[in-house]
Amino acid sequence: MDRLVIRGGRRIEGSVQISGAKNAVLPQIAAALLSSEPLELSNVPEVTDVDTMLDMMREFGVIATRQSERKLILNAGGAHNAEAPYDMVRRMRASILVLAPLVARFGSARVSLPGGCAIGARPIDLHLKALEALGAEVGMESGYIHARTKADGLRGGRIVLSSPSVGATETALMAACLARGETEILNGARDPEVCDLALCLAAMGARIEGAGTHRILVQGVDALHHARHDLISDRIEAGTYAIAAAITGGRLEILGAHLEHLGSVGAVLENAGAQLWPTDRGLMVIRSGPLRAVDIGTEPYPGFPTDLQAQFMALMTVASGASVIRETVFESRFMHVPELARLGANISLQGSTALVRGVERLHGAELMATDLRASVSLVLAALVAEGETTIHRIYHLDRGYESLDHKLVQCGGDIRRVSG
Ligand code: EPU
Repeated sequence: MDRLVIRGGRRIEGSVQISGAKNAVLPQIAAALLSSEPLELSNVPEVTDVDTMLDMMREFGVIATRQSERKLILNAGGAHNAEAPYDMVRRMRASILVLAPLVARFGSARVSLPGGCAIGARPIDLHLKALEALGAEVGMESGYIHARTKADGLRGGRIVLSSPSVGATETALMAACLARGETEILNGARDPEVCDLALCLAAMGARIEGAGTHRILVQGVDALHHARHDLISDRIEAGTYAIAAAITGGRLEILGAHLEHLGSVGAVLENAGAQLWPTDRGLMVIRSGPLRAVDIGTEPYPGFPTDLQAQFMALMTVASGASVIRETVFESRFMHVPELARLGANISLQGSTALVRGVERLHGAELMATDLRASVSLVLAALVAEGETTIHRIYHLDRGYESLDHKLVQCGGDIRRVSG
């Protein structure tokens, strides 16, 4: 298993290219199942979650061809309605996103229940309710979800999400595209990745209005067709590099990043002592003054994203003052806390709230990566820790960060990947 060895103390400077968004590409790969004609995606990130999703698509007979320039062609012309087995779904919860396209196109689906994961229970009830609102019958048996439509397929309906789940909104959108008549989706997620899925589906011939708002309207069509779609850049990767610049007192141009996709993150980082401004090519981040403690609570977009909570906590460990960090999206997303403590961070946890008292300096240590965002927060902290930090089990990082070590080395970081 690979590990990262990081020597702290170098500024992160220069420029870095942001890859396509992991959380945009995964639902769009699933969306290819909606059509018998090919879907061509470009700006596809080279991360292992994409490989896992493609393995899943192959189970359904989808032909996935990677081309140069980060292009991916998905041909579901010969797809068949196989089962999504536990072994696949447990590897990646986003596999649940195949449920809606399978039901919409083939009239039935059998997908393993994902079960718990490292960041909490993560139920899928809202996905299932969305399908039921469009007339699907949903049942459970032996750990599998069975969903089937009436003989004449899904019909448009009103889907009211009790909370703005990203995945359930994507399920609702994909199902509604091929449902008869109009579907209204209320209180859906407004994240840029949901809007990007809507754009991809629109390119395939779907009729969608209001993506990015609390009310999405979809007029069902009989079939979707061949399309090309260029993915948005990864705002969480961009936010992670912004924090890398901020924590090291660096100056970094984050190429391909969009400040507006970062929601409240820009203002929070400015309050913490960084300066951010959009450039022709992306986003500039500088921190020259002291780091200040700032309180945050994670929220659905455009609030502070749960996917940047761990990274922000790493920043706060070396800020002056105490910061209160509340996690409201996932109940137990604090696996980074004991690992940050090994570097000398002063963090106390109470339920879903962490109190971070900034310390003068962190010290290198041996650490264990646990999930994607927890792992990258350890990398960020290691960039400023005195001495050497070794992070084990970094396959978690490779799930969602393309070439993290190479990109950081290009910006001045002292990082080595060691195999075995
Ligand atoms: N929830 C339910 N029932 C459901 C669905 C969700 O109770 O049917 C709850 C979840 O348990 C959680 C909250 O609603 O407490 C939000 O979950 P959401 O459905 O929005 O999350 P997701 O679609 O499973 C996506 C991202 C996550 C990101 C969250 C929140 C993808 C592939 N994953 O997950 O990304 O944290 O939205 O923004 O888009 C990551 O990239 O590290 C990651 C975990």
